[in-house]
Amino acid sequence: MVKICCIGAGYVGGPTMAVIALKCPSIEVAVVDISVSRITAWNSDQLPIYEPGLDEVVKQCRGKNLFFSTEVEKHVSEADIIFVSVNTPTKTRGLGAGKAADLTYWESAARMIADVSKSNKIVVEKSTVPVKTAEAIEKILTHNSKGIKYQILSNPEFLAEGTAIQDLFNPDRVLIGGRETPDGLKAIQALKDVYAQWVPEDRIITTNLWSAELSKLAANAFLAQRISSVNAMSALCEATGADVSQVSHAVGKDTRIGPKFLNASVGFGGSCFQKDILNLVYICECNGLTEVANYWRQVIKINDYQKSRFVNRVVSSMFNTVSGKKVAILGFAFKKDTGDTRETPAIDVCKGLLGDKACLSIYDPQVTEDQIQRDLSLNKFDWDHPVHLQPMSPSTVKQQVGVVWDAYEATKGAHGLCILTEWDEFKTLDYQKIFDNMQKPAFVFDGRNIVNAEKLREIGFIVYSIGKPLDPWLKDMPALA
Ligand code: UDX
Ligand code: UDX
Ligand code: ADP
Repeated sequence: MVKICCIGAGYVGGPTMAVIALKCPSIEVAVVDISVSRITAWNSDQLPIYEPGLDEVVKQCRGKNLFFSTEVEKHVSEADIIFVSVNTPTKTRGLGAGKAADLTYWESAARMIADVSKSNKIVVEKSTVPVKTAEAIEKILTHNSKGIKYQILSNPEFLAEGTAIQDLFNPDRVLIGGRETPDGLKAIQALKDVYAQWVPEDRIITTNLWSAELSKLAANAFLAQRISSVNAMSALCEATGADVSQVSHAVGKDTRIGPKFLNASVGFGGSCFQKDILNLVYICECNGLTEVANYWRQVIKINDYQKSRFVNRVVSSMFNTVSGKKVAILGFAFKKDTGDTRETPAIDVCKGLLGDKACLSIYDPQVTEDQIQRDLSLNKFDWDHPVHLQPMSPSTVKQQVGVVWDAYEATKGAHGLCILTEWDEFKTLDYQKIFDNMQKPAFVFDGRNIVNAEKLREIGFIVYSIGKPLDPWLKDMPALA
């Protein structure tokens, strides 16, 4: 029986290993983590992450061929294939601060593997890492090897949160990079055999190590770039009277461009896009490629611009001040169907409104009050940021921010409401009831273009939708610079 161990039971490691266990009954999969609370949650009915379909997969395999454990060393030493799926945040201090990936967790995992291994291992990079990390890891392992052979593979994960299980069941492609030596090719084949249990062979791509590592950064950079491109267009649409949805539709019909990932929004978020682009920018700079670095940096700048543009629109529409006004925030997660708030645009938008002394009433179906208070109090690392994102003390945040468990409660008595996450339930709210309970004039700022603006205008709302022809009211109140 092949034994797999995955170090890191997070958003990537947990779902990926659960699906491998489900699809490969003959493989024993152990997911290990240093966080006792995470492992306890994986072993309970309340999994540590919200992901549609994940509960069923875990229930089917847990205790059979899928195990969650804190006995990291034991499972690592017994495994044939070790996936490393630990976090790689952006460095906040030292060389490359604000851009380079922090590989502390990776390095300590690699040293631990070297310490406890007694048989040959295939070590698989699963978390996104800078190009040539595999080489560094290889050095750590071989320098401490005691005669044990290691093969390093790069097998980046392309799942998106909220659709992780579907993405894993039916991936566009599985990418495996490895050394082009006989032992390297054997290791690639061993991992290929795992995925081939359910993924058609022609979707399993093999490359050299560095192509695989760079492809992950490139894919995320291209995806983020599409969103910044359409968001940049949304600003121009508002200025000219074009409708960004019509533009996206027309552009996406070109088969060379394609229709997906062209939704204008208040900005992209998530743990990957910004982090991976910053990492790419850093790698370019380290290689003396200043123009290339600047090109990709612009994708993040447009994203920041889009968030501050949204804040400015809210403030300027409401007579240039939101001081003391109640503003409802519907949605805090970085996208629907997840409780994850990493880099969510809601953080920057809320901080911008708080900076203008608004009183926020926030509702998200999956994000806890604790998480929201923490996100809004934390001093975000300032890599290049506009000044309006001043840090706030937790007590100021508590005074100005209320978190409620219902959209109607959030909007009661509010002057305006902002939709920041595209949760399905926000499409079917009783907006007449919401209007009746709000201050007048009542404003809706739709950061995801999910409501029917015309219907809302008939009710009496003043509506702003990203990239759509402006409400006559908003035309008379030009957005602040
Ligand atoms: C383009 C648009 O494709 C077309 O829809 C529009 O109506 C007019 O402009 P055209 O300029 O004739 O058409 O050719 P196109 O095939 O788009 O190529 C433009 C340039 O891009 C060429 O120099 C081509 O060599 C280059 N190119 C294209 C690349 O370098 N790489 C590619 O992958 C594709
Ligand atoms: C992304 C990649 O899609 C995935 O392949 C990679 O493995 C990890 O990073 P994820 O961040 O989970 O996945 O979600 P994704 O669906 O890509 O959305 C990222 C952000 O872009 C979200 O904030 C989303 O709301 C936003 N977005 C997406 C838009 O604003 N417009 C779009 O058209 C699509
Ligand atoms: P991702 O979104 O990439 O999956 P997460 O932060 O959700 O990232 O998960 C990474 C997990 O890795 C965390 O649960 C963390 O506790 C775990 N981790 C980090 N370093 C180690 C280590 N040396 N050994 C075991 N687990 C680790």
